[in-house]
Amino acid sequence: MRLKDRNLLGIETLTPEEIKLILDTAVPFKEIFTRSVKKVPTLRGKTVVNLFYEPSTRTRTSFELAEKRLSADVLNISVNTSSIVKGESLIDTAKTIEAMKADFVVIRHSMAGAPHLLARTISASIINAGDGMHEHPTQALLDLFTVRDKKGKIENQNVVIVGDILHSRVARSNIWALTKMGAKVTVVGPVTLIPSHIENLKVKVAYKLDDVLPHADVIYVLRVQRERQKQHLFPSLREYSELYGIDMDRLKKCKKDVIVMHPGPMNRGIEISSEVADSSFSVITEQVTNGIAIRMAVLYLLAGGAEKVEEGE
Ligand code: NCD
Repeated sequence: MRLKDRNLLGIETLTPEEIKLILDTAVPFKEIFTRSVKKVPTLRGKTVVNLFYEPSTRTRTSFELAEKRLSADVLNISVNTSSIVKGESLIDTAKTIEAMKADFVVIRHSMAGAPHLLARTISASIINAGDGMHEHPTQALLDLFTVRDKKGKIENQNVVIVGDILHSRVARSNIWALTKMGAKVTVVGPVTLIPSHIENLKVKVAYKLDDVLPHADVIYVLRVQRERQKQHLFPSLREYSELYGIDMDRLKKCKKDVIVMHPGPMNRGIEISSEVADSSFSVITEQVTNGIAIRMAVLYLLAGGAEKVEEGE
């Protein structure tokens, strides 16, 4: 089986079979990490451009490592967001990349739809590494991989996503991905941070964290985007922390085998206490490791994906 599109622009358009294919393909790639030589020749001779218009540490380095472990030639372009805000500039950049004959472009942009625009403009395969408030597909895939790895399955898991659902591309991609794979998703947060009609995405909505936590198999904590604080979408960080922060007292009321996830970067002491972040309930560092395997799987499948992952050299 192969992916039907040559780009990965979002989870919304993927079928459950395609999602499963990506997760299954990531398993042998993760095994490579235990070898002394963590490299396979899969993308030798291929060029990947990482085009980041927004600050990013985790996602950019994860992609770069995935590309290098597949033996691709890697080019990093970080662009100052303030100088490029219009679609026109993006097209100019796209044309430059096209002239360089890149095979893949990994793009992060503050404008929703930027990866789609790029996909219409150039012939390279485009991977969305986060577009505005829209989608962040590889994050959702690595999260699904982590849930499956830890819980044995995704179907029927109660996943509680906590925090700023409104502005979160991570939440949106995860909602698509989890519901497609049969998980039961509840979103919880201040009323100002929950989009209206979110129920249409087959999720439950709650406003009181303590009502939903006892049923959770997975608690997915979103970053408090402090920049939103200026818009007064919630009264204060202290109040947010009291109402929606995940600390040990709250975890005590949860299932014994609950797992806590966070896409990073974390605000320790605000949405998650340090004690929880560093506890055995937390799978946050596993998410980071799994992210590399998932990105390798995505690149491999978009490159045409042969039957088997090649042996290391
Ligand atoms: C997320 C992002 O940038 O969308 N982080 C990430 O990719 N590791 C989440 C966030 O910034 O809150």
